[in-house]
Amino acid sequence: MPLYLMVQNQKIKEDMLSIGNSLKNQVALVTGGSSGIGKAIAKAMGKSGAKVAINYISDKNEADQVVQDIQGSGQSAISVQADVSQEDQVMEMFRNVYDKFGTIDILVNNAGIQKDAKFLEMSFSDWQMVLNVNLTGSFLCAREAAKEFCQRGLIPERSKAAGKIIFISSVHDTIPWAGHANYASSKGGIMMLMKSLAQELAPHKIRVNSISPGAVKTDINREVWEKPEGDAKMRALIPYDRIGEPEDIARVAVWLASDEADYITGTTIYVDGGMMLYPGFQTGG
Ligand code: BGC
Repeated sequence: MPLYLMVQNQKIKEDMLSIGNSLKNQVALVTGGSSGIGKAIAKAMGKSGAKVAINYISDKNEADQVVQDIQGSGQSAISVQADVSQEDQVMEMFRNVYDKFGTIDILVNNAGIQKDAKFLEMSFSDWQMVLNVNLTGSFLCAREAAKEFCQRGLIPERSKAAGKIIFISSVHDTIPWAGHANYASSKGGIMMLMKSLAQELAPHKIRVNSISPGAVKTDINREVWEKPEGDAKMRALIPYDRIGEPEDIARVAVWLASDEADYITGTTIYVDGGMMLYPGFQTGG
């Protein structure tokens, strides 16, 4: 084989290896990591070399299952209980992460809930609960992570950035959603939180971004996609004509957290099979 081809092949192999290890020696905390999109992200980050803390609110067994899966693939993992909407619990969770892993490099603000109701029937408590978990929870975790990133600073052997925060938002940070005013408002809020933090923290070498999934098969929308008529209705809103899998989001999260994405901050990546493309106009307008 000519020398230049051998060199090229070697380079391709090295690149592939570095993708597989793109989060090596880094510590990631994934909120709501025991199921759905969070679980897929936790596992994918583990496979990419990160030590992973899996936050859960009530289902310890599910979280410990994810821990075992990650440990099975040769990586360290722990489960950490906390209701992310409670300041004291969030602070305790970060302390637990530091006790075990010493620091944090990647925060994935994934924990989120829906409590749907027509607007006239929406209770104050359902409004508050969704805002508290989705928006306030993201704020509390981001603040703790940012403190540690700023205090510790950059460790060049680990990453080009001093820290990475990824919000798992939704297409509903942009697409209005009747019957889900609390949820859409929380996601719209996340967008401005993400951008304001990105602007404020960039001088500290902290990257802050969102991934906004479209319809992804998880428990949050199981009731819809499980039934054939729900599945068809959902797919009618997705030009790419398939409902997403949690792994579709996880792959992007790993890449966004890695140095491959080092120049990206303050951005939202829509991973939605084209849901943001006004699918109603696909056949005219
Ligand atoms: C919601 C899902 C919904 C999807 C697309 C997500 O943010 O959690 O219930 O299927 O947006 O509308």
